[in-house]
Amino acid sequence: MTADANSKSANQMWGGRFAEGPDAIMTAINASIGFDHRLYAQDIAGSRAHAAMLAAQGIITDSDAKAIGEGLLAILSEIERGEFTFTTALEDIHLNIEARLTERIGEAGKRLHTGRSRNDQVAVDFRLWVRDQCDAAIQGLTALMQAFLAQAEDGTDWVMPGFTHLQTAQPVTWGHHMLAYVEMLARDRSRFEDARKRMNECPLGAAALAGTSFPIDRHATAKALGFDRPTGNSLDSVSDRDFALEFLSAASICAMHLSRFAEELVIWSSAQFRFVRLSDRWTTGSSIMPQKKNPDAAELLRAKLGRILGATVALFTIMKGLPLTYSKDMQEDKEQVFDAADTLMLALAAMTGMVGDMTANREVLKTAAASGFSTATDLADWLVRALGMPFREAHHVTGTLVALAEAKGCDLPDLTLAEMQTFHPGIRAEVFDVLGVENSVRSRMSYGGTAPDQVRAQVTRWKDQLA
Ligand code: ARG
Repeated sequence: MTADANSKSANQMWGGRFAEGPDAIMTAINASIGFDHRLYAQDIAGSRAHAAMLAAQGIITDSDAKAIGEGLLAILSEIERGEFTFTTALEDIHLNIEARLTERIGEAGKRLHTGRSRNDQVAVDFRLWVRDQCDAAIQGLTALMQAFLAQAEDGTDWVMPGFTHLQTAQPVTWGHHMLAYVEMLARDRSRFEDARKRMNECPLGAAALAGTSFPIDRHATAKALGFDRPTGNSLDSVSDRDFALEFLSAASICAMHLSRFAEELVIWSSAQFRFVRLSDRWTTGSSIMPQKKNPDAAELLRAKLGRILGATVALFTIMKGLPLTYSKDMQEDKEQVFDAADTLMLALAAMTGMVGDMTANREVLKTAAASGFSTATDLADWLVRALGMPFREAHHVTGTLVALAEAKGCDLPDLTLAEMQTFHPGIRAEVFDVLGVENSVRSRMSYGGTAPDQVRAQVTRWKDQLA
């Protein structure tokens, strides 16, 4: 990037009424080329659609449009080959490309900006960019859902403790736990799909803010750029950044989900839990403690929401209170969205790799599932079913049995029938059936419950949906 900011001459693109060039510090605060060069492909696509439309409408000649179209493609390959010199004095991607176009093709280049403004130009460029990111997020989420689904399919009936308050609650199945994340990620995916649909209207042709007196065809440019239709109000078109806010909001919720599983992995991979083994590919060692295998990727994934939510809050704060229509404040939108999108895509890829590679310790999960009086609810339910006891009373009787087991230092199935009968004489030997974790999970047959049969049905449903 050339920092030719101190040049005394006025800006070649808009400097007609300026006698002097900007202060160097003004250039530093004003220029966005340092980051919005990332919009080059979208900017060129938008300009090509605009030029073709101008010619079709007889606003510029066919030969000018041809020169513009070819010039823009040549610039595209200059940029992609790393041969393009971005210039701070030309502020942003729009002026950089337009100036280079005129340099290459002469007069015709100066006709491209007819019936257009940088306000609708940046609005369309940025929408195209965010739309692509929605597609990338949808793809990344699908891959991650598949990784969780594969885990679920492997372990539909592996038992593990289910937690509330991170205290042992009831036994559940590994498959069920994995599918909980598939549900979350499916909602994330639908949020990106939904946002994409809503943002798919083309603001190009709103011009500075009021539309244009040239006989442009906004339907044609909208169609050429893959939009469903042109936007309906020119003022809204240049001042709207809802599409970016929706992307960030969906990204934040998604990153929150990733953060929750990341936290489970940190806990589960600890020596105290040993529920899962993370592969070497997703862990790091310690430079001092040779035994360590740290879940760094999981920890970073736990943290990434901070960054994405930070970008979300930043853009809301930037947009808050802005009067119609475009204000330069809005130039601050891009770095936030770029960083959040990069972070999200990396996070999705890392989580997909980690989930694909992790191994559940079935034996450890099974032992843990049976400890902590995890089948107390099954016992209470049995008292209701077999003895017709009101649930509240059954809850109380079970509680006293748990207290007894705790005092003896054993688990519920280790109590003798005689010990149980001292609390209620009606208790029979068949009660021991419900105290086993396998039976416990098998009995949770309510729709969406943890019973392996239910989990298998959900695995089938998701396999169909992801196929
Ligand atoms: N670089 C600007 C942005 O990102 C482009 C729009 C400039 N519009 C203007 N009226 N100065 O917002």
